[in-house]
Amino acid sequence: MLRTHTCGALRIEHVGTRVGLTGWVQRMRDKGGLIWIDLRDRYGITQLLLEEGRSSSELIETARTLGREFVIKAEGNVIERVSKNPKLATGDIEIDLTGLQVLNASKIPPFTIEDETDGGEELRMKYRYLDLRRNPLKNNLLLRHKLSLETRKYLDSQEFVEVETPYLIKSTPEGARDFVVPSRMNAGEFYALPQSPQTFKQLLMVAGYDRYYQLVKCFRDEDLRADRQPEFTQIDCEMAFVEQEDVLNTFEGMMRYLFQTIKGIKLPEFPRMSYEEAMKKYGSDKPDLRFGMEFVELNEWAQGKGFGVFDQAELVVGINVSGASNYTRKQLDQLTDFVKRPQVGAKGLVYVKYNVDGSLKSSVDKFFDEAALKQWVEVFGSKPGDLMLILSGHKDQVRVQLSALRLEMGDQLELRKSDEYKALWVTDFPLLEWNEDTKRFHAMHHPFTSPKAEEAHLLESDPGAVHANAYDMVINGVEIGGGSIRIHNEGLQKSMFEALGFTEEEARNQFGFLMNAFQYGAPPHGGIALGFDRLAAIFAGKDSIRDFIAFPKNNAGRDMMIDSPSTISHEQLEELSLKVVTQKK
Ligand code: AMO
Repeated sequence: MLRTHTCGALRIEHVGTRVGLTGWVQRMRDKGGLIWIDLRDRYGITQLLLEEGRSSSELIETARTLGREFVIKAEGNVIERVSKNPKLATGDIEIDLTGLQVLNASKIPPFTIEDETDGGEELRMKYRYLDLRRNPLKNNLLLRHKLSLETRKYLDSQEFVEVETPYLIKSTPEGARDFVVPSRMNAGEFYALPQSPQTFKQLLMVAGYDRYYQLVKCFRDEDLRADRQPEFTQIDCEMAFVEQEDVLNTFEGMMRYLFQTIKGIKLPEFPRMSYEEAMKKYGSDKPDLRFGMEFVELNEWAQGKGFGVFDQAELVVGINVSGASNYTRKQLDQLTDFVKRPQVGAKGLVYVKYNVDGSLKSSVDKFFDEAALKQWVEVFGSKPGDLMLILSGHKDQVRVQLSALRLEMGDQLELRKSDEYKALWVTDFPLLEWNEDTKRFHAMHHPFTSPKAEEAHLLESDPGAVHANAYDMVINGVEIGGGSIRIHNEGLQKSMFEALGFTEEEARNQFGFLMNAFQYGAPPHGGIALGFDRLAAIFAGKDSIRDFIAFPKNNAGRDMMIDSPSTISHEQLEELSLKVVTQKK
């Protein structure tokens, strides 16, 4: 061993001990006769000391050649510090150096390796191995490790078995595009990387494994956002002989166990909310319940008063924002601009200020007198000092627009606290959703999700009306996971493919293996997959998953460090029987 201790280990009781430490030079101060070196490794920072006159001149000379991020081996005696640093775990001591060896020099890093860095996103991605030396990223990865460990412990205690499923598979339609891999041995044919191990875990249930899980990479070629990466990790699970309630209880149990063991937080029982209720009250199937501002529908009190915009709208709906009547004209204009942005897409915003003195001021005073506005106050349950914000339009669109405004107000009023956790289950999703572009129904979850038994007969006559045995776990407005009770019967699976517009041949070609399996004693089964990267980010109170993945892709799906994707040689292309018409570069 090159060291006796790590840079996070030494305390006052070690004074007098002779130690050997290794690590990276975080910082050096050379003041007159004294030289201090902050030595860093994964475990912490320890201060090294040299003193002209006392330390050997050879040592001082070596020390003066050091730069940031040099890798060194230091030997010396632990001494008590004169001025202690309470912010550092090792802040009571320092090492009086007797030996110093440079194990490797370092170029000057392109950004400072401190908690607050001066490096831009792209630069940090390019030198990810340097960025990973910083505490914030290191802590994220350690948290991730802990989460995976505790997840495995919990699932193991519940009899779940981890089974690996293949990465080179055939495409499973889960809504996103597949990444494909050409097969050299089967010219002109491709594997697909799994968007999830969905069909395999169902086959494991047919095989009798009863309770399966896997911390597994999934691949989806979709547009990227803060909470989406093209390759990400799921805690993927499946159980046989269960009903929806069993799955919900098992994974609510797991989440509460994780919060308790890792964060010391006792989560209350997760409330359940139907999809319909979530959309009506929050305009979102993943409502953030850290704050209120439930939607208030206003048609009855807002229509028929001569205001055309409201009169023509299918839905007039608003939120009451407590304590925001002091919003200035400028702030209200900014909110109007916010809802009019193409990403939100509203035509305009109506507001009513219920001033602290009890007076009412609205942007639609021309159409609504004080008496009418007083009615609104009643309906909204507003108090003096509140602000009512109202949108109108087509029901489905206006709800989504108001949801964006609700979250914006939550942010502006700092109601979305990163250390507060509100979890819930959203249930009873529609089985199918109509797609205007393709003019057909798509599975809202995936084609293996079972319809509610009492509505299954509508699959042919009124497919849009059928609900699914599907559920999402939502924490703080983030969809952490989703799952369903599956179809385990060949006939029903066939009707489902039919409702999705598959011909019998297409269904056989793509999913023959699954339907065959259903002929050999498939048990009732269901499961869930939780987004592991999202879970780690939520545990740290962050929105973006990127810094919870050691080597992530940027928003263009590129790995900036290894410069991928990249072109391949003509020989490789030929071997794969691929012809590329235009090649980049
Ligand atoms: P679903 O598609 O809902 O379900 O995915 C499960 C969870 O995975 C996470 N997730 C992602 N995380 C990061 N980047 C992405 N691109 C990304 N896409 C999804 C989300 C999501 O809730 N096979 C089904 C599960 C089942 O039915 O059991 C499935 O994959 O947190």
